Amino acid sequence: MRVLALVGSARVGGNTDTIIDEILSQVEHRPGTRVRKYYLHQLDLRPCRGCGHCREHEWCAQEDGMRELYGEIRSSDAIILGSPVYMGQVSGQTKIFLDRCYALRGPAGSRVAGADKLGIAVLVCGARDPEHPRPALRTLRVFFRLCEISRVEELVAQGLGPRHAARERQDVLFAAREKGRRLAAGIIGIPGRDAEGAPGSDHV
Ligand SMILES: Cc1cc2nc3c(=O)[nH]c(=O)nc-3n(C[C@H](O)[C@H](O)[C@H](O)COP(=O)(O)O)c2cc1C
Repeated sequence: MRVLALVGSARVGGNTDTIIDEILSQVEHRPGTRVRKYYLHQLDLRPCRGCGHCREHEWCAQEDGMRELYGEIRSSDAIILGSPVYMGQVSGQTKIFLDRCYALRGPAGSRVAGADKLGIAVLVCGARDPEHPRPALRTLRVFFRLCEISRVEELVAQGLGPRHAARERQDVLFAAREKGRRLAAGIIGIPGRDAEGAPGSDHV
């Protein structure tokens, strides 16, 4: 299984990163598993220019870090996309990445063979109000819809402010390992739907 992990926070070792590592801890040592992890802020990702090049061609006209990511997205069996909530939305680097993923959809539909892929969305925020992360969660879901990845689960971790807060939260770490176990077992997205309408959406 080829797993792609995308971290939308600039805080290396921060909460999003910690949660994604905890998910990966359940899969990375398994034989036949290859994990690639990228910090979006470390890549040279330029904002979408809206030029329309990707409507006519397979790729975006801009030659930057997205070139590598387009290939990784296509060739991965599972994609983990995580972001902190910034000003009620996904982080800036995550939004730039998402806008550039417009190129993954062509006039004839998705350019990603997403039906066989698994996805995990991770969202982290300081607020404890369960309504607060909803707009950002909806934004993250766009990525999986665009790729036509329907077997997606979500982990929303709230009440996490300081950089290392997630390391002290056993409920968060447990939920993350549980996602990792489900990923390793290939059962992501299989159970029923929750009130959000998304399969396997966990709020901790
Ligand atoms: C610029 C900025 C904006 C933020 N905006 C929000 C917000 O709107 N709602 C919220 O609950 N937390 C907000 N936070 C807190 C972060 O979501 C929180 O600290 C999170 O744990 C950061 O995750 P990280 O450690 O992976 O970067 C904000 C933090 C920063 C730096």
